[in-house]
Amino acid sequence: MKYGHFDDTNREYVITNPKTPYPWINYLGNEDFFSLTSNTGGGYTFYKDAKFRRLTRYRYNNVPVDNGGKYFYIKDGDTTWSPGWKPVKTELDSYECRHGMSYTKFKSSKNGVEAQILQFIPLGFWGEIQKVSLKNSSSKPKKLKLFSFIEWCLWNAEDDMTNFQRNFSTGEVEIEDSTIYHKTEFKERRNHYAFYAVNAPIDGYDTDRESFLGLYNDFDSPDVVNEGAPKNTIAHGWSPIASHYIEIELKPGEQRDFIFMLGYVEVEKDDKWERKGIINKKPAKAMISKFDTVEKVDAAYEALREYWDRLLGKINIDSGDDRLDRMVNIWNQYQCMVTFNMSRSASFFESGIGRGMGFRDSNQDLIGFVHQIPERARERIFDIASTQFEDGSCYHQYQPLTKKGNSAVGGDFNDDPLWLILSTTEYIKETGDFSLLDEMVPFDNDASRAKPHFEHLKASFYHVVNNLGPHGLPLIGRADWNDCLNLNCFSDDPNESFQTTGNKKGKTAESLMIAGLFVVYGKEYVKLCKRIGNGKEAQEAEKHVNNMIEAVKAHGWDGDWYLRAYDFFGNKIGSDENEEGKIFIESQGWCTMAEIGMDEGMVEKSLNAVKKHLDCEYGIVLNSPAFTKYHIEYGEISTYPAGYKENGGIFCHNNPWIMIGETVLGRGDQAYEYYTKIAPSFLEDISELHKVEPYVYCQMIAGKEAFKPGEAKNSWLSGTASWNFFAITQYILGVKTDYDGLVIDPCIPSKWNGFKMKREFRGAVYDIEVQNPDHVSKGVKTVLVNGSAIESNVVPILEKGKAHSVTVIMG
Ligand code: GLC
Ligand code: GLC
Repeated sequence: MKYGHFDDTNREYVITNPKTPYPWINYLGNEDFFSLTSNTGGGYTFYKDAKFRRLTRYRYNNVPVDNGGKYFYIKDGDTTWSPGWKPVKTELDSYECRHGMSYTKFKSSKNGVEAQILQFIPLGFWGEIQKVSLKNSSSKPKKLKLFSFIEWCLWNAEDDMTNFQRNFSTGEVEIEDSTIYHKTEFKERRNHYAFYAVNAPIDGYDTDRESFLGLYNDFDSPDVVNEGAPKNTIAHGWSPIASHYIEIELKPGEQRDFIFMLGYVEVEKDDKWERKGIINKKPAKAMISKFDTVEKVDAAYEALREYWDRLLGKINIDSGDDRLDRMVNIWNQYQCMVTFNMSRSASFFESGIGRGMGFRDSNQDLIGFVHQIPERARERIFDIASTQFEDGSCYHQYQPLTKKGNSAVGGDFNDDPLWLILSTTEYIKETGDFSLLDEMVPFDNDASRAKPHFEHLKASFYHVVNNLGPHGLPLIGRADWNDCLNLNCFSDDPNESFQTTGNKKGKTAESLMIAGLFVVYGKEYVKLCKRIGNGKEAQEAEKHVNNMIEAVKAHGWDGDWYLRAYDFFGNKIGSDENEEGKIFIESQGWCTMAEIGMDEGMVEKSLNAVKKHLDCEYGIVLNSPAFTKYHIEYGEISTYPAGYKENGGIFCHNNPWIMIGETVLGRGDQAYEYYTKIAPSFLEDISELHKVEPYVYCQMIAGKEAFKPGEAKNSWLSGTASWNFFAITQYILGVKTDYDGLVIDPCIPSKWNGFKMKREFRGAVYDIEVQNPDHVSKGVKTVLVNGSAIESNVVPILEKGKAHSVTVIMG
């Protein structure tokens, strides 16, 4: 069953039934200021950091789900309704929610009144606009009452939901004209406030939640709305809100537009006050006047659309299958921008207070984003590298507001450092900008300990070399990519976090996932060293890579697949010898991408084993059989019920590793089949089961051993976005960036006749047409650049500012 449809021309998903199987959300904002918006008007807003600078309140895991947001109430005679259906939930005559690129639109109607809302954050602006248009489409005059509603969060979202003994006494607001200002804690340590404005005179307002709603009412039937009259309250403590009240008369056919703005202001320390107790409103007024007319708002909206035209214009394909095209051209790229911005901090599954920017996550997010805005990728690489230590280890996460490592989330995840080599080399391949290697980048955010960025890569590489276990394989530390394989944790206390507890100081538990990862990015490191003329280092590093390959062959092969790990006691994990968890996806992915034992047939055997033991209708599960009892020596992985999360779930992030592995073997049919199994647009028809948005990837789909296979959770913020984009564009469609050009090496389903890709690269446009007359999956016979054949399948860097045609004939 579907709940809407794709509108590819407008790059929107159009939801036509508000009762989606879960809130289907969108993100507004592109740089500093963000909102999450559900298809029924739920969600919240923050500046930079969802934990430390939250503007509006949101209650996670609420009953019913997704209660609270940016709400409008329209009172038309005895009928009250909301354009987003919620919170009032009056049955609407029509409803439509369009989630687009950084904007959301609602269009609905009731009893001859049509309401449209356009919600977005103008580029470079610290405020959210809501353009609300009300039209009388009946033949009689209408008298409407419009109430807006938001609830302020007292800034620190975690404190806001826990520290009530203080917070119920601190809330403060001011009102002037049609603007409600939220100034809690402004008089002491904060130099920021928020405001909610509308560009029309108001007929009343409320700022005290209890007065507006009534103590025992829900959002669906506020006292003030029921009574049809505001109380003009000023909040003193408790829960401050902002609600405007406007009386509207509309003749038949008449429409009125209102511009609401939810803004954020920072002021200088000595410029905080207009006079005693009255905040300096100048900056807020300047913001309001920037967008106080429909024309100004429409122009900003146009600019936002053009911005996305430009970004998405950089890679564009025509494959003949709309489902694939809309993933690659629109939604997957869009999600890559969102994961770049949010890391794993704020979604409808991530509360915005638990996690900041992950070291491994943010590095990986870059590979789906670097072609969009390379300058921002460059800055991010430095932010991440700055949280590393001299020995290559790093904080697992940092807070976006401070950019400082967050020690509460721990460290010693021994895969972490290597991902910096991935992000850095992908950045250079995209841009040709080697200069970042020479930039001075601090260790542990201490400028006095800065070294050239290249030294960070070196530290990353040698962190593995310096932390090898008894088999010459990488020590796993707290965990590797799989956060839940905690081999030194040994926790039997439910109050301990698996992520930060290490009850044993293990120097034995080793990871084959890191081994494969090290070979892949170790080779990249060697290649980079050679490319920058550091032959000596390349030679030295190559030895370590080769040693690792030998160690995997000698101690990491189980006969039909690669082992997953050795535990604290030196016992095998992911072996046929094990009763549960005989085979794991991560080591198959990385060791096949690394081509370890290719000549000995290991790569092929491993991928065949994945197909046999891990593949299912909805994707490839993480391990099999899933664990059914708690193994203290494995940690969190064995806490999950079978088929969920890291215990036998389809962890979509790692499926592309297998797709890429398949392309190493040239098995394009298999690679693409795996791609389509988890690509959301291919799952639209089973939305009811899949549950989460059909336009973005989720982290996990319940696996074959789960209670409900195919049911997905944790949409949006997952490395799944960038890895799938990387796999489909660079390995399956096979247009891969490299230091000296674009390597064209598709690995596609044999039945395809070919495809087209427009790719902007180093300032030139490559119009690539791949033809597949012999219906092969892999192999390039001829490459023509602007009509002339070239020797290899590496299309060189072509003249900037021009379009060039590249014809590729497979065979
Ligand atoms: C989550 C984490 C990521 C980790 C993965 C597997 O997605 O954000 O860092 O690699 O889970 O445990
Ligand atoms: C939990 C989750 C895992 C996530 C980790 C991050 O272990 O299961 O997916 O990566 O938390 O803290």
